[in-house]
Amino acid sequence: MEALRHVFTIAPPSLIRAHLSKPIFTIPFIHKKSNVTRFPNSKLTKFNAISPSVSTQPEPETATGNLDHEDEKFDWFSQWYPLAPVTDLDKRAPRGIKALGLDLVVWWDRKENVWKVFDDRCPHRLAPLSEGRIDQWGRLQCVYHGWCFGGSGDCKFIPQAPLDGPPVHSFPKACVGVYPSTEQYGIVWFWPNTDPKYKDIITKKKPPCIPELEDPSFFKTTIAARDIPYGYEVLIENLMDPSHVAYSHTGIMTYAPPPR
Ligand code: FES
Repeated sequence: MEALRHVFTIAPPSLIRAHLSKPIFTIPFIHKKSNVTRFPNSKLTKFNAISPSVSTQPEPETATGNLDHEDEKFDWFSQWYPLAPVTDLDKRAPRGIKALGLDLVVWWDRKENVWKVFDDRCPHRLAPLSEGRIDQWGRLQCVYHGWCFGGSGDCKFIPQAPLDGPPVHSFPKACVGVYPSTEQYGIVWFWPNTDPKYKDIITKKKPPCIPELEDPSFFKTTIAARDIPYGYEVLIENLMDPSHVAYSHTGIMTYAPPPR
């Protein structure tokens, strides 16, 4: 079973209850699979055709538009997801993370002063870019043959290419898939679709708003991430089962067993 990457905060039970008031894990969803994802009229069309075989095409809207309705479709690949606490990342080196079955690399683009989320595979020979480095000009450099990429996924430099050859950055097959990303609450979030039409999705839809996390008087937040080898259903069941805490987390969390 694929490991579940879980970004979580330590919060009061009241907050957890408030956000779990609806059984979100019982909402039916559709995860459409296709071998080829088409991205017409894009300079990345050919590259993206080999992207993971998931579809993010929006499902037809239901008559009610009500998420609680049993017929509502939930498209898992048209949402923002927390990917990594910023405190887990190093601006000097790319970091590989697997999420939603996607191999991703998170790296700091010092030209734009933002975290970027790319497909973790070089368009040349598919080496993981997370094994590479940030070069002296702030580009993401593949560790295999040294191709360098800018924050837009464009290929900036191919060491082996002749200087008088065609411009490499305009060749779609030399580009890396870029996922929309943003930073909120000290967490890097990503939108799991490299289709360029989602490039500015942040202007239309933002990650979930959690007002308490913006309020410094509410509580001190600890953010951590762990890869745990089970699905989200087990995790949610575990989080809704506080009676295990005093025993499973003895000496780790400050909960005392109930008096006998
Ligand atoms: S595999 Fe990345 S440069 Fe060759």
